[in-house]
Amino acid sequence: MTTRTAQLPGSNDACWCGSGQKYKKCHRGADAAAGRSASAPAGKRVQPGDISPRRPVPAHIPPTDYAESGIPGPGVPGAPATRLLRLRRACKAAAEVLLESAAALAPGVTTDFIDGVCHAGYLRRGGFPSTLNYHGFPKSLCTSVNEVILHGIPDSRPLEDGDIVNLDITIYLEGMHGDCSATFAVGKTDPDSERLMRVTHEAMMLGIEAVRPGARVYDIGRAIQAYAERHGFGVVREYCGHGIGAVFHQDPTIPHYFDKKFNTVLEEGMVFTVEPMLTMGSPRIRSWDDDWTVVTADGQRAAQFEHTVRVTRDGVDILTRADATVA
Ligand code: MF3
Ligand code: CO
Ligand code: CO
Repeated sequence: MTTRTAQLPGSNDACWCGSGQKYKKCHRGADAAAGRSASAPAGKRVQPGDISPRRPVPAHIPPTDYAESGIPGPGVPGAPATRLLRLRRACKAAAEVLLESAAALAPGVTTDFIDGVCHAGYLRRGGFPSTLNYHGFPKSLCTSVNEVILHGIPDSRPLEDGDIVNLDITIYLEGMHGDCSATFAVGKTDPDSERLMRVTHEAMMLGIEAVRPGARVYDIGRAIQAYAERHGFGVVREYCGHGIGAVFHQDPTIPHYFDKKFNTVLEEGMVFTVEPMLTMGSPRIRSWDDDWTVVTADGQRAAQFEHTVRVTRDGVDILTRADATVA
């Protein structure tokens, strides 16, 4: 069957509209937003590997309430006097573990090995892996390679030179969850992937810059979507940022696109994540048979960055910074 998508130009070819510009600088974004995009060849897509047995956590580390059952409960916020301090410590620890885990990335290293580095990083800080058995998730972080958008399960697949991989780190420390992620190149990747990662990071930062008391939740997604689509990238709709604290995922929901229904006014003290996922082609999603791994339907690459942030009196504080000063 011949489809329109089969006739679309390559990223660096001239646009079909006759503007003389490269396709990626011209109509690629509009095509992708309308669900038209070239598909990556099936042979080039990421294949699932084997998942190793569950990593143990020593008994002295306080577990999440779902570590055994897999089902998260309402959570216990603990003493209000120390809540913000404990949250700051958890978020800083998450940012540190992200850097440690990223330092282990190299061609030939498996994502399971990265899971081991990350797991050890949590334990060394007295923290518990938030993702471990969360609704049954089997590992201590999510590793999302190339066309995997999010929730990739660390496995036996060796990373290849030129891959891009998102490491999504969440630690449960002192009764609080800290959540952050970043996408990295393995070895040297291509210029389009570099641009996707750079624009995704910039989009996240623009979303965060929209945060201040009196602004509305939809201002965050509006900033992210406008920037992403101006650069010809898609924005994933199905997964959003979320409130976080004593509970891993809670209200408010933070979409990364504009939707006027999300008109909650931001107030000092609110804590949530901003975690946009951008795609080179169409943002339409598909799921692997493992019921976790979410990939782009067209097989083109995706990138994601994430911070946990807090609304302050006059702006925003990024909590998931490795260099944060915390008592
Ligand atoms: N860290 C992810 C987030 O940003 C959630 C992962 S949940 C898991 O919200 F179960 F997939 F690990
Ligand atoms: Co995360
Ligand atoms: Co998150």
